[in-house]
Amino acid sequence: MSCPPVSPLNQNQDSDSCGKNTKDLGAIFKPKSVAIIGASTNPEKIGHQILKNIIGGGFEGNVFPINRHENQVLGLKTYPTIGEVPDSVDLAIIAIPTAHVLSAMEECAAKNVKSVAVITSGFAEVGKKDEELKLKNVADKANMALIGPNIFGIIYTPSKLNASFGPRDILPGKIAFVSQSGALGIALMGWTTMEKIGLASLVSVGNKADIEEKELIEYFNQDGNVEVILIYMEGIKQGRKFMQTQVKKPVVVLKVGCSQRGAKAAVSHTGSLAGADKIYDAAFKQLGILRAKTFTEAFGWSRSLSLPAPKGEETVIITNGGGIGVRTTDECETADIKILDDPKWLEEKFRVTMPDFGSTKNPVDITGQAKAANYKQAVNIVLREDKINAGIILYCETVITNALDIAKAIQEEYEAVGRNKPIVVAMVGGEKTRDAIYYLNEHHIPAFTSVTQAVSALKVLHTWKDISCRVKDNPETACAPKEAVDLIEKVKKENRNILMEHEARKVLELCGVPTPKWGFATTAEDAVRQAKDMYPLAIKIASVDIVHKTDVGGVILNIRNDEELRTKFNLMMQQVKAAAPKANILGINLIQMVKGIECIVGLNHDPQFGPVVMFGLGGVFVEVLKDVSFRIVPFGKVEAERLINDIKGRKILEGFRGLTANKPSIIQTLCAIQKLAPLVKEIDINPLMTSKDGSYAVDARIVL
Ligand code: COA
Repeated sequence: MSCPPVSPLNQNQDSDSCGKNTKDLGAIFKPKSVAIIGASTNPEKIGHQILKNIIGGGFEGNVFPINRHENQVLGLKTYPTIGEVPDSVDLAIIAIPTAHVLSAMEECAAKNVKSVAVITSGFAEVGKKDEELKLKNVADKANMALIGPNIFGIIYTPSKLNASFGPRDILPGKIAFVSQSGALGIALMGWTTMEKIGLASLVSVGNKADIEEKELIEYFNQDGNVEVILIYMEGIKQGRKFMQTQVKKPVVVLKVGCSQRGAKAAVSHTGSLAGADKIYDAAFKQLGILRAKTFTEAFGWSRSLSLPAPKGEETVIITNGGGIGVRTTDECETADIKILDDPKWLEEKFRVTMPDFGSTKNPVDITGQAKAANYKQAVNIVLREDKINAGIILYCETVITNALDIAKAIQEEYEAVGRNKPIVVAMVGGEKTRDAIYYLNEHHIPAFTSVTQAVSALKVLHTWKDISCRVKDNPETACAPKEAVDLIEKVKKENRNILMEHEARKVLELCGVPTPKWGFATTAEDAVRQAKDMYPLAIKIASVDIVHKTDVGGVILNIRNDEELRTKFNLMMQQVKAAAPKANILGINLIQMVKGIECIVGLNHDPQFGPVVMFGLGGVFVEVLKDVSFRIVPFGKVEAERLINDIKGRKILEGFRGLTANKPSIIQTLCAIQKLAPLVKEIDINPLMTSKDGSYAVDARIVL
């Protein structure tokens, strides 16, 4: 028997059959013509408001309102059905009651409409999955891209298309915002306008019957109007499909539903399933997606990610206040942002920008009396000097300065020099400072009210740079060898679902997991024969009937020689027979005792993402601190190393009580264990002992 394959997740390949979607998303964002099915003369109806937004937004293509009993809506000629529209239709917006949506979709398919956006609610989110599937089937058959159902619409500012029932005055920008929540999406539309944050697109994805995050990310990858993709996510419907997403531009995700209670709310909200948060974390890391914790952070990152990438690390802080400068330095240290430290050079360059009592040390304090001209001069140096790779510009409101003038000076200098390196701004103060922040945002210079946000926005540029330059991973594709598969089959035939210790060790060994020297003996003499180079060793009873070996005297450690082994072997047999007289004893495991740092390696199956591999520090670290991390199978050596480096206690692996981990053999274990993913339900290697000599699966449990 050969092992069934795990579907590949190679991010650098084209999608396989489960991920492929050849539908034309250009018809959604750059349509030449739009029809609104359910366009009403009644301003209280959603169909009316969507049409009003399309007209008011200045969409330049053809607009066809569909209404069965009116001749005109908002001054436009209507058609009773989409079939009667005289021209071709690229995008149809459907805003009619649930019961009529399917037939409207069928009419769209008959008319060769390229894409549909279904506003209507009342499908999978209220348990009507079959009804939703019917929509998807119609869309698939006609090769029509379907957004929704249960959405508030689509906005794409380069096409002046606002096919939504949200606010109208969206500012153009380079961020494509994909929202799974309708209400929150609408609310954030208003917020971005207030904050003067520009958007290239806002897509409500609702129940994601057809088009999901993967297709949208890949569409925006090739869209020159989009520089950053921001996703508000409640859950992924198809984890393995999502893992095939090609991430080419920065993608920022705000995934909610991390808490157990939050996850439940997310399920009932859109009919999507929220998997374990750690697995989502793994998926994002593996794909190179940036995960934000809050909306503020997500939008802060999205704004800074359209700035040029820093060429190097050295950063200069310009400030008019000492305290805020020190706060920012602390934040930079926490975020691992390098502050340029060359007092002589800084004095030489920045002295001219400040009064005598200013400080040229970094933070460069141009003092509380610094005016727009001082900022302009200082920012000019930050931008023109190659030694400086990024700037953090700080401002505290004073009565003798004008925040807006300072904002304008920063912006003029940035444009004059040609936006050549990243700068972020934090301005602290009252209403006037707010206006200055809005001014900078409007001119695509990320400005914040807090230094924490500014530093975080700069840090993410470094993170994205690291991601975009990271080494490509080659996922493991090998299957378990026949001998291992046969052994598992044999266990299954015996109606057992847990492999015995020696079987588990054998299977792991056959797959390439390093194990300590071990043997399996039925008599004391047999044990002594096998134990030659194994001392010191441990012995453990082997019986399918005994689950807790220690409780019946079935584990003895630190046996040092043949004589001790003979004695302890017989002692164990007596002890176990006395404590579990009915147990069928098959023999005794002999395992060489190995020293090292205790780690834990596991494999199990996630409902959304399929097989996943876990790594962490073992013993108390896993029990108390739960310091473990995951990756989605399959992955290769590069990703395995990233998994190891992901845990909080990674420093322990670099040297602890004279012990150092052997990373190559841990990587080997993490790769080898994946071969068993299609065959088993769970694996626990606990502990995997690692020291500079190697790593060894000392104990293992395999559940079928
Ligand atoms: N073809 C063409 N027009 C149709 C039609 C069809 N098959 N079926 C109905 N219409 C017309 C109606 O006659 C009406 O026009 P009128 O006002 O001129 O009579 C218009 O379409 C709307 O239909 P109506 O029955 O009035 O529905 P409604 O506007 O009250 O509700 C939805 C429709 C889609 C808004 C509603 O079903 C819904 O799903 N609301 C929730 C939307 C939502 O919240 N989405 C998620 C956001 S995050």
